[in-house]
This record gives sequence, structure tokens and C-alpha cells, in this order.
Amino acid sequence: MGKDVIIACDFPGARECLDFLEQFKDRRPYIKIGMELYYATGPDLVRELKARGYRIFLDLKLHDIPNTVRRASTVLGRLGVDMLNIHAAGGSAMMAAAVEGIAQSGSGTKLIAVTQLTSISPEVLKGELLIDKPLDMVVQQYAKNAKAAGLAGVVCSPLEAGVVHAACGSDFLTVTPGVRFAGDEAGDQRRVTTPAMARELGSDYIVVGRPITSAADPVAAYERCVGEFIG
Ligand code: C5P
Repeated sequence: MGKDVIIACDFPGARECLDFLEQFKDRRPYIKIGMELYYATGPDLVRELKARGYRIFLDLKLHDIPNTVRRASTVLGRLGVDMLNIHAAGGSAMMAAAVEGIAQSGSGTKLIAVTQLTSISPEVLKGELLIDKPLDMVVQQYAKNAKAAGLAGVVCSPLEAGVVHAACGSDFLTVTPGVRFAGDEAGDQRRVTTPAMARELGSDYIVVGRPITSAADPVAAYERCVGEFIG
């Protein structure tokens, strides 16, 4: 299984993203385009970056009725993105519809599900969302649902990679944000680990944003992540 570091390119526009990636043009890292950048630039930037040879995880976290998600998945699959995600909380029918939508696009896009956002704490899960089961159990159940619906993996915290692999097998992908270098601020992330811990815990891909994009030397920060995570 090819472990890799995915840089979360959370920028306000195409210019900022392309300027940032200029530093990486010899490396062409795997990148993630999320809501902010996609809603600002639309599909043009995705096409441009695909043409430049980048692997792209399109992090739009689709969550709607099955028919809408199927049709949106077809449109997004046609962009040729390497990975796309949807919320497991949308239910099995919605996830199966997304799988159909990707198949209709004719692309090899890997579809993965968000289990619980890494910003959700056990207190919020119980006190606000009224989900009484332990966080690990919720993540495990959502991962099983995603696997049964035909998805390739899940987005989860590195802390949950073990329970997901135990429930769904080692080839079921765990794509894990919530990564910070030892001693750094966690910011709005609640469940964080270092790249080295993510490796120990069995993550397949780590998604790293601000520790790289806000670093004084982003290339050095990326290399540090790769060194700690892949070796
Ligand atoms: O800057 P930071 O490293 O916290 O960025 C993490 C990225 O991963 C953000 O783009 C965020 O939207 C995304 N993400 C997350 N938790 C999830 C799914 C995606 O933090 N469950």
C-alpha cells in the first residue's frame, strides 16, 4: 500500500495555491483541494493541476439525498480527481449512489467517507449531537457502512486507524487529517497526532495543512512529514 503525505491546499484562490505549489514543482506532492478553494475557483483549477501532473484529493464532503450525490459524483469523477469524499452520516443508500455516480463517470476516482470530523470531541458527540455511543464505536460502524456500500476507505483521525483496519481490513484506506508536529499548536483540531504517531497507528495517508502551508519553510516542513511518516 503506497503511504503518502497529502498537503491540504486551503487557500482563498488559484493564485495563492499556484504560488504555493511553485516551491514544490519538482516534487509534485499529492494535494487536497477543499471547499474554500474549490468554491472560489470551480473546476478550472482542478483541471489545470491535473494537467500539471498533480494527484488530487477533492475534499468536498458531499452530503445530500442519494440522487443528488450520484449526479454530483459523476460530474466530479469526470474531472479525473484521484480521491473524492462524502459523509458517511448521509447513510448507506447515499454512499452506494456515490459509488454508482463514480462508475458512471468512467474514472478511477477512489471514493472515501468522512466518519466523524476530527474537530468533533467525545463531549460534542454526546452532549450536542446526542450520539451516546463511544466515538470509536461510531467511527467503526460508519467505516463498516462505507465498506459495505463499496467505498475504498474513510477519512478519520489517526487515533482511529487501528479500529478501522480491524473492522474493515488492512487494505481499506485510512486517510487521516488532524496531524501536528510535536510541540505545535493544535488549533481547531481536537484529536491530533504527529506524523510519526500516525505511521505507528497504521494511517495510509496523512492530510497535513497548516503545519506545512503556514510554516516558515513549507518544503522543509513537507520533507519532515514525509521523513516521519514514510521514513
Ligand atoms: O490545517 P490542518 O492540518 O488542520 O488541515 C486539515 C485539513 O483536513 C483541512 O483541510 C480540513 O478541512 C481537513 N479535514 C479534517 N477533518 C476531517 C476531514 C477533513 O480536518 N475529518
